[in-house]
Amino acid sequence: MTDLSTTYLGLELKNPIVASASPLSKKVETAKKLEDAGVSAIVMYSLFEEQIIHESLELDHYLTRGTNSFAEAMTYLPDIGTYNMGPDRYLEHLAAVKKAVSVPVIGSLNGVSHGGWTSFARMIQDAGADALELNMYYLATYPELTGTELEDNYVDLVAEVKAAISIPLAVKLSPFITSLPNFVRRLVTAGADGLVLFNRFYQPNFDLEELEVVRTLELSDSRDLLLPLRWISILYGKVNADLALTSGVHTAQDVLKAMMAGAKVAMTASAILREGYERVPVMLNDLQAWMESHEYESIKQMQGSMSQQSVAEPAAFERSNYIQILSEFRDLP
Ligand SMILES: Cc1cc2nc3c(=O)[nH]c(=O)nc-3n(C[C@H](O)[C@H](O)[C@H](O)COP(=O)(O)O)c2cc1C
Repeated sequence: MTDLSTTYLGLELKNPIVASASPLSKKVETAKKLEDAGVSAIVMYSLFEEQIIHESLELDHYLTRGTNSFAEAMTYLPDIGTYNMGPDRYLEHLAAVKKAVSVPVIGSLNGVSHGGWTSFARMIQDAGADALELNMYYLATYPELTGTELEDNYVDLVAEVKAAISIPLAVKLSPFITSLPNFVRRLVTAGADGLVLFNRFYQPNFDLEELEVVRTLELSDSRDLLLPLRWISILYGKVNADLALTSGVHTAQDVLKAMMAGAKVAMTASAILREGYERVPVMLNDLQAWMESHEYESIKQMQGSMSQQSVAEPAAFERSNYIQILSEFRDLP
């Protein structure tokens, strides 16, 4: 029998397919369906910094009614829409999901600044989460902010959150970092036990008739795998943290590639959102069949086997490969 088990953040998982943060964890029933489909762990959708601050400002408004401070502060807060329930509800919901499923449940906090909101890391732990994923997503849009300042801020935030909890901490990252190996090494020194590569950004588009900026949320496909695949291959063996791949995991082949690059788990959201829960057992069966036909006994045996340090041509991940690829392109009209 092929052994599909893996470990991630100190958790023993029965297979490497993890449900990444998405609306699929917003209801106990849908979280249960994820478990029934066969995922080995569930990352909860995120509790956002804005959500926490919003609620505390509302409280502040209540306490200091009549002053202008609240109105001013409110104008800086983004529209958080209806994606998320309030912080207290989030904690109650997490506890309910944890009670309903037997697979590990990973809480998710999403924010960038320092301050009171990070105390929710501890509350997520107390609500029963087996680990915490911190999603740091900040888009630098003003020229005064340097890359170093931004990275220092992220590193400090990881240290702050780590100090508040005793469960393992994973950090979900953006690919837009100049020197990723250096940066992730700093995150690991600050306390990250795992690195989740990468956040997929939702790109604004233009409506040319209405001359409006429109928000778009495109689900991924397998082509989106290539960006995290390359970086996991490069980082494997260079940082002392578990690597998780997210973006573009739709098939057993995608999971296999993630494992061979060096990931401990392959996280998936779009595949299930688009094709339903059945996608998970199909992936698991295909994974098993592929491993049997290629005589692999375990997932652990293949982890990192195609990482940069293991392949015959490490330059395939680097710039030299770029020149070669361009010169080999023949597909002209
Ligand atoms: C509808 C939707 C909601 C999401 N919500 C969250 C979230 O709350 N927190 C988070 O860290 N990532 C969130 N994500 C990102 C996913 O966890 C995942 O990292 C990303 O979609 C890439 O994986 P995929 O290609 O399997 O979809 C969301 C994605 C989708 C499609």
